[in-house]
Amino acid sequence: MPNAYISGTGSFVPPNVVTNDELREKYGIDTTNEWIVKRTGIEARRFSERGIATSDLGLEAAKKAIANAKIEPHDLDLIIFATLSPDHAFPGSGVYLQQKLGLCDGPNAKFVPALDVRNQCSGFLYSLATATSFVKSGAAKHVLVVGAETHSAALDLTTRGRGIAALFGDGAGAVVVSATEEDRGIRSFKLGADGRHADALAQRVWDIKKRPFIDVDENGNGLVPASDLWANMDGKLVFKNAVERMTTVLMETLLAQGWTGNDIDLFLFHQANLRINQYIADMLAIPPEKTIHNIQRYGNTTAATIPLLLDEANQTGRLTPGTKVALVAFGSGFTWGSCLLEW
Ligand code: ACO
Repeated sequence: MPNAYISGTGSFVPPNVVTNDELREKYGIDTTNEWIVKRTGIEARRFSERGIATSDLGLEAAKKAIANAKIEPHDLDLIIFATLSPDHAFPGSGVYLQQKLGLCDGPNAKFVPALDVRNQCSGFLYSLATATSFVKSGAAKHVLVVGAETHSAALDLTTRGRGIAALFGDGAGAVVVSATEEDRGIRSFKLGADGRHADALAQRVWDIKKRPFIDVDENGNGLVPASDLWANMDGKLVFKNAVERMTTVLMETLLAQGWTGNDIDLFLFHQANLRINQYIADMLAIPPEKTIHNIQRYGNTTAATIPLLLDEANQTGRLTPGTKVALVAFGSGFTWGSCLLEW
């Protein structure tokens, strides 16, 4: 059975920087830089322009990851696209990315399977676990895993929506997971979910139990009340569960692997809230030099946070052969996961 390892990383964030002060000055939101920084650590985020789709952000990150892996798009055997903000309700963003990568063009078209994963903040880790299984089973040699989000299009950028609008930003990260006979790579995973809290962080734009699924006027136009249109969140419940679940799943994965926290060189936590991550680091006595964060610059980019961090670590020389890395995430669902790997 081959091992699976991350052979390339890439990332992309839109150039438009929106600071906390700009949320107030440009969008008229009743908020302050101090409020947001104190509770979340976020100082700015990126918003992409109208006309840009999530698959476009994913494309830029994917191209870099493919180049970094020293392969061509046609070497891919599978595309996995993690997002909660897909281009459309259906089909998934994976098939748009496949087209944009040029895989459907010309006599050498390669119609590789494309799969979307809808697991929100833990979507990247669920996708990485899926890619690893494909590679280890021999079903794929190179799998592209993308985490990308366009939150800016679906935030209530008014004072009414400030509790959520201040938290999220746009961005994309990607990795290529490849087969190797070398003794390295992705060592273990643990994933979990607790559907009892499915409604604690949700965007219920439509309700399929209704007939039709969205209320319509006499002309057939959809009518969505603000309470359903925008995401809603029980922030305190999310905070509490994120701390508990991320700590527990990390400890369980380390135990199962026979490693301790001291063995880990780099901890990459999902970037939902700097306070959540500081809490976990304090509880597990993880020194600050063993973590990196980008939430200050990008806000919460959901499925993109961990691949963005991985690319940053890769580009800055933090990942060298043998470096032991722990990835941990928690999010809507609730869903969570942890992955241990050896670079
Ligand atoms: N600026 C100013 N005031 C605000 C803002 C804002 N951006 N947002 C909310 N407020 C106000 C509220 O209206 C409320 O006012 P009121 O007391 O007059 O009613 C007050 O601040 C307190 O609001 P709370 O929601 O109770 O604030 P809390 O201390 O819980 O902090 C926060 C909110 C930061 C979201 C916190 O609950 C949290 O971090 N939770 C974790 C959730 C999270 O990280 N979610 C990310 C997505 S999930 C994931 O990726 C894991």
